[in-house]
Amino acid sequence: MRPPPMSTGRSIRLRSNRDLRAARRRREHSCWDHLIAAPLWPLHGANLGTLLRTCDAVGACLAVPPFPWVPDALDKGNTLRRPACVHWVGNPLGWLAKQRAGGTRVLGVELAEDAVRLADLPAARRRTVAVLGHEQTGIPPDALDLLDDVVEIPMVGVGASLNVAVAGSLVLYKLAGMC
Ligand SMILES: C[S@@+](CC[C@H](N)C(=O)[O-])C[C@H]1O[C@@H](n2cnc3c(N)ncnc32)[C@H](O)[C@@H]1O
Repeated sequence: MRPPPMSTGRSIRLRSNRDLRAARRRREHSCWDHLIAAPLWPLHGANLGTLLRTCDAVGACLAVPPFPWVPDALDKGNTLRRPACVHWVGNPLGWLAKQRAGGTRVLGVELAEDAVRLADLPAARRRTVAVLGHEQTGIPPDALDLLDDVVEIPMVGVGASLNVAVAGSLVLYKLAGMC
């Protein structure tokens, strides 16, 4: 028979919903326009909802194309009590070029040679757009030329890549300096 687990002597008290509510903002934050997660070629609505929650958590905005199904996907996936900050991007390549021209750092989140490893990515000191790829085909080749840098999240398993919302969330937390 297995011996009972040894107690560490620490008593851990989980935060109650009431504690959490008291610690959070009462209203949504305004558009801080500092960090922008940009899944500009989305395929699955559920990933947009997940990314929107992360954006709320770190104070980022979400940039998405105005495909007819996207507003519904965001409504369905958004379990926040308030709407989050969404920017509509009709022409991804033109928009990315404009961001760069205006001094914004355009950071690709992608599996790429010579990419910065996530652990080495510093918090964003200037306005940054984190570009996320299509769930099956990644960031389109013509958008790669518009990236200033690329960050890759190292993987040691058998899977080729992470879910796009997971990858985007990890990078947003690093850029926000919250982990
Ligand atoms: C499921 S992946 C697409 C992979 C696709 N099969 C390809 O060959 O490009 C969808 C997106 O998630 C992000 N992603 C997934 N895993 C990643 C990783 N380990 N590092 C950086 N980005 C990642 C990228 O933005 C990627 O374009």
